[in-house]
Amino acid sequence: MARKKTERIVFENVEVLDAGAKGVSVAKAPDGKVIFIPNVVPGDVVDVQTFKKRKAYYEGRATTIHKLSEHRIEPVCQHFGACGGCKWQNMKYSQQLFYKNQEVFNNLKRIGKIELPEFEPILGSEETLFYRNKMEFSFSNARWLTPEEISSGEEMGKENALGFHIPKMWDKILDIKKCHLQQDPSNEIRNEIRRFANENKLSFFNPREHEGLLRTLMIRTASTGEIMVMIQFFYDNKEERELLLDFLAERFPMITSLQYVINGKANDTIYDQDVVLYKGRDYILEEMEGLKFSINAKSFYQTNSAQAYELYKITREYAGLTGNELIYDLYTGTGTIAQFVSKQAKKVIGVEAVPEAIEDAKINAQRNNITNCDFFVGDMKNVFNDEFIATHGQPDVIITDPPRDGMHKDVVDMILKIAPKRVVYVSCNSATQARDLALMDVKYKVIKVRPVDMFPQTHHVENVVLLELK
Ligand SMILES: C[S@@+](CC[C@H](N)C(=O)[O-])C[C@H]1O[C@@H](n2cnc3c(N)ncnc32)[C@H](O)[C@@H]1O
Repeated sequence: MARKKTERIVFENVEVLDAGAKGVSVAKAPDGKVIFIPNVVPGDVVDVQTFKKRKAYYEGRATTIHKLSEHRIEPVCQHFGACGGCKWQNMKYSQQLFYKNQEVFNNLKRIGKIELPEFEPILGSEETLFYRNKMEFSFSNARWLTPEEISSGEEMGKENALGFHIPKMWDKILDIKKCHLQQDPSNEIRNEIRRFANENKLSFFNPREHEGLLRTLMIRTASTGEIMVMIQFFYDNKEERELLLDFLAERFPMITSLQYVINGKANDTIYDQDVVLYKGRDYILEEMEGLKFSINAKSFYQTNSAQAYELYKITREYAGLTGNELIYDLYTGTGTIAQFVSKQAKKVIGVEAVPEAIEDAKINAQRNNITNCDFFVGDMKNVFNDEFIATHGQPDVIITDPPRDGMHKDVVDMILKIAPKRVVYVSCNSATQARDLALMDVKYKVIKVRPVDMFPQTHHVENVVLLELK
């Protein structure tokens, strides 16, 4: 039954049917429209209060849960619900994998509209918690108060916070006591920084007024045990900066790389900023199958290192190498896939837009004594052209791992034009991958598909597709 309540509608006893895109679950209203509901699990029966109404759907929140789904699990994190980071922590991992697989299948079917083989089983991550090697936290002088805190009636005052942005709120920071995504000593480092900064009255950033010393904190960990900590200050105050960094160096002698940035810009991205080394070296080392990869403060590196190894093994297997192939690794980043497959190839050519990443790729290849990889920098749609092919040769295999937007149409056209016998398409967004596969359907047949879960507790999923000439 539905009743109106100041523009908001309450639907009672609604069964949650599906887990949809962006980690939000889906139910059907009595009028047939879809209702998107966060923090519930398929199989739950709930009352929903809507807060948004559109032509085709409602958005609402569950006010009462009448029946708990058998797919539910108790979230391990005290911040679940308020923090947007692990939206599926209340769903059993086997179910998370089921919905991730379904998302890839639906995208490839509905958007791609191509003939598909039976999928290989989605590869789950062995570690479902503490699997991330990089976390970024923000400082704020106005801690986000949860609805429970507000309704408690206690005087909260303004408090400093160090944690994550509340979803869709750029100026609200949830104070994080324990995050289950990164291994120790990540939590201890963050909590000690907050304690020390508060005790020593170092000011936390105010994003509305643009004032306060402490802005962001990045912690990177590696399977080698190396740790990088980088603090971003809004302005330079040598005394306060050194007070904090010296404290960190002494309290956590295991930090391999201690760095900082002074960023007075409006936004807090560090990619156009100088990163200054305070102690140790300016990179940490990650290791995979005997290969060493140096990671600096700005480097892209797959955030789940253990599962990146699995992803790369599938990619290499799909490439079907004999040792005689010329491979192009498009969107190579720091050249990790290129180097990973290089032993089984005659030659690998990596192309990437970020110059620093290509610098790293070259340094890493040298460190790994790899001599059959060459790396080139530039926007793919401009670099990957007839002249490039004439200079470097006709590839036997193309491996492509584009960003979320997928490949530019000119890049797809170029692949179709040079038509290598095999293409391995790695994607973190199966919707854009499906669009590109549809374009490639004129010449290529999808031979294998294998989703890989790099991000347990979230709705994100990676997908590897093998294409061969028809
Ligand atoms: C998903 S990452 C893949 C990185 C790498 N394959 C790995 O596994 O570490 C996508 C890469 O594409 C690069 N990129 C984004 N747009 C690009 C463009 N237009 N031309 C070339 N590279 C681009 C990004 O800088 C990023 O390194």
